[in-house]
Amino acid sequence: PADPTALEELLALAVEIAEEAGALARRRRTEGVAIAATKTALADIVTEADREVEDLVRARLAAARPGDGFLGEESDAAPSASGLTWVVDPIDGTVNYAYGIPQYAVSIAAVAGEPTPQRWDALVAVVHNPALGETFRARRGGGAWLGDRRLAVSEPGPAGALLATGFGYDPATHAGDLARLADVMPLARDVRRAGAASLDLAFVAAGRLDGYYERGLNPWDHAAGALLVTEAGGVVSGRPDGRPGNEMTIAASADLHERISQAVYRSR
Ligand code: IPD
Repeated sequence: PADPTALEELLALAVEIAEEAGALARRRRTEGVAIAATKTALADIVTEADREVEDLVRARLAAARPGDGFLGEESDAAPSASGLTWVVDPIDGTVNYAYGIPQYAVSIAAVAGEPTPQRWDALVAVVHNPALGETFRARRGGGAWLGDRRLAVSEPGPAGALLATGFGYDPATHAGDLARLADVMPLARDVRRAGAASLDLAFVAAGRLDGYYERGLNPWDHAAGALLVTEAGGVVSGRPDGRPGNEMTIAASADLHERISQAVYRSR
């Protein structure tokens, strides 16, 4: 669907489902959360709530739009018959969630066609933080919004940017993470590792953070957040040539994006 009304309808559906899913995550959180499994590394965990919330999102989407594809963190992908695929992280920031830190989110994006790790084309995006009751949303060409506030990325001066990043799960990547951090520090007033990529991106869109970078995200971590940033006037790249992808997500205003890119790619 290309026309704004159809996209608004898709966005309304995504908001409704994200908020219902968020309410479930929050309810489960108050009941107490156990780590159900450790996946590729100690920090790569899944809780029963991740699975339950993904099942809910998947069932709601399938009921409303049976021909659409699905790509989620916790279940098998389904191909698209309609030309649209939903990219879903039921609980982004699972470690925060498991430890009771209120920085986690339901992240839902609708993308055109079948997403590949190199490319996806988000049409609508929702990042909902149930703990704070905040729902960030965007539709392509319609801006990024938090409630009735239209979002705009910040334009920090040279004095120092508030940046965020994340660290890879694979221990083999940690030396590279630290080398990059050292290269980026001169740009920064300070650096956050808040633990939920979708919210890091939403905060860049809202101007709460000036910029964000992280290596090796999965599409469900950043498909929604990246649209929030571009609709808030920012630039998002995923590869050294500046194009989309998962290799290295960099998000900020155009000027800061350029400065972060130079620093980040220096330590490759
Ligand atoms: C993770 C978080 C974290 C980021 C990781 C992601 P998950 O997602 O967004 O901040 O550093 O790269 O995988 O596993 O909590 O959904």
